[in-house]
Amino acid sequence: MTSTVRAPTSHPELLRWIEETAALCRPDRIHWCDGSKAEYDRLCEESVRRGSFVRLDAKKRPNCFLVRSHPSDVARVEDRTFICSRRREDAGPTNNWTAPDEMKRTLRGHFDGSMRGRTMYVIPFSMGPIGSPIAQIGVEITDSPYVVVNMSIMTRVGTAVLEVLGRDGFFVPCLHSVGAPLAPGQADVPWPCDPKVKYICHFPETREIWSYGSGYGGNALLGKKCLSLRIASVMARDGGWFAEHMLIVGLEDPQGRKTYMAGAFPSACGKTNLAMIRPPKGFEGWRAYTVGDDIAWIKPAADGSLRAINAEAGFFGVAPGTSWESNPTAMETLRENIIFTNVAQTDDNDVWWEGLGPPPKHALDWQGKDWTPDAGRPAAHANSRFTAPARQCPSIDPSWEDPAGVPISAFLFGGRLSRTFPLVFEAFDWKHGVFLAATMGSEATAAAFNQASIRRDPFAMLPFAGYNMADYWKHWLQMEERGYRLPRIFRVNWFRKDDEGKFLWPGYGQNMRVLRWITERVRGEGGAVDSPLGRVPRHEDLCWDGLELTKEAYRRLVQIPRAGVRAEADALKSFFAQFGDRLPAGMEHQRAALEVRAETMPEVWEPE
Ligand code: GTP
Ligand code: SPV
Ligand code: MN
Repeated sequence: MTSTVRAPTSHPELLRWIEETAALCRPDRIHWCDGSKAEYDRLCEESVRRGSFVRLDAKKRPNCFLVRSHPSDVARVEDRTFICSRRREDAGPTNNWTAPDEMKRTLRGHFDGSMRGRTMYVIPFSMGPIGSPIAQIGVEITDSPYVVVNMSIMTRVGTAVLEVLGRDGFFVPCLHSVGAPLAPGQADVPWPCDPKVKYICHFPETREIWSYGSGYGGNALLGKKCLSLRIASVMARDGGWFAEHMLIVGLEDPQGRKTYMAGAFPSACGKTNLAMIRPPKGFEGWRAYTVGDDIAWIKPAADGSLRAINAEAGFFGVAPGTSWESNPTAMETLRENIIFTNVAQTDDNDVWWEGLGPPPKHALDWQGKDWTPDAGRPAAHANSRFTAPARQCPSIDPSWEDPAGVPISAFLFGGRLSRTFPLVFEAFDWKHGVFLAATMGSEATAAAFNQASIRRDPFAMLPFAGYNMADYWKHWLQMEERGYRLPRIFRVNWFRKDDEGKFLWPGYGQNMRVLRWITERVRGEGGAVDSPLGRVPRHEDLCWDGLELTKEAYRRLVQIPRAGVRAEADALKSFFAQFGDRLPAGMEHQRAALEVRAETMPEVWEPE
């Protein structure tokens, strides 16, 4: 085994951790990633030779690769994700918990020899611009070249990070193994993983991450959900800031005034799409700029504003449903330098997925099997994804790498709710807004394995909060007492359906009409009326240039049935009860007030 003598750092703690880990996992060799293009190209090339990557057509998709995962390793595994705080109550009722010592004992057993026959890659990475005061450094150890190349796109990797780290800088150690050691002479498989055992573990007090058994997305790219949300949410609580599952988008009106907003939607509920929104017909002179599509770190600045950075450097976006109609910005971003995972491969060596356009007559499905449109199964996996460098997004904001971040004027929260909840409504005040975010619900998606059909997803952080969700709400509530200029809070719902199950709202680019109203509200301009759920715009409060949407159709999009509000206030009792006395009193006050409004509202509330 190569010794760590040639390590490009003299950070004693880092070196000790590498040595300890190598002794435990016993890889054949160690490679320190420098983050160079040459390294990226070489790893891709080797992966093609090993049969793990497929190089796509050089003209249609220059420098793009297709990767097929193991059929069982296709999404985050929430039931195998653990918050190992010292005390169970600190993880809270919505997280899996095991005591840290016990979990480490179990994990050491699995990591013991887990990298035999493989290379151990050491990836120094920065979440946020290298050297920015908001950025954090992590070091991921992994035995997966797929993880290395994805991390190279999603984060800032390499020697420059080690320079900032110096000899005694702080880093989050992130240990990952696919859990598939190779015996001498044993042939490798295209997607090694442990099909039976998976552990995605976080130690919030010691700021450590251990992930075993999976090679996919948030299970394996540890800078993403593990560091930037589960560990960073704890750092943010301690440091008075926010680490959120949020997109960041900037809107510029025809007068050149720019408004930034951050939005939390559960996984696969539209963050990437909204971050890349293109103003529709009727919005000439408006522009939309992308800052981030998944993870926002938001800190109070000296002037009292909240400033947000995108913690990432790339997009790990949902492929199905992405098309020139729904998201032309993403389609332009996907022209080159992309890693596609679990999409279909066409006969001309390009990619295809459901919703991209007319299906090819023949393709290889996400598992590499022959597929035709009458196959009776999807060609791409529902959670198939693209990994794309943010810098090649045509709408990327000129300030997206500003170390100081962009000022946030509004927070949006939205799930998939087919009934009761209007297209958009504004919170009465900050406390009500926190309540609206905390009680957000959503219908199931493919981003997580085995998810219940409808669930509460507070702040879209249910799977990502690194501590007790009730304490997380308290943290949000407390922000009001610190004298900051707080953004206004809105709930949005693109997913309301009619009785036949058809979407009532065209969504995508048309969501711009809602965003425009929000920019007006934060400037104290747009109109609205109070409903039992919050402030709702009337038909005349939204701009309808370029879209025919009758008053009658709008009425169905925003009407609120009393039965639905009653059911909501009632369901929240048991939802809140699980938090016991950790629940901030303000939350129950809000619930009780909703109950009262339900009793005094008409059978069906309508804006006029
Ligand atoms: P993660 O990356 O998992 O955190 O998800 P995300 O929130 O970035 O989700 P994304 O933007 O990729 O949206 C995923 C799904 O939502 C796709 O199936 C889209 O087609 C659908 N979607 C996005 N925006 C809209 C919309 O405005 N209306 C409707 N009906 N569907 C939408
Ligand atoms: C999500 O599930 O919210 C994602 C994809 O953004 S993953 O990186 O797998 O978490
Ligand atoms: Mn996400």
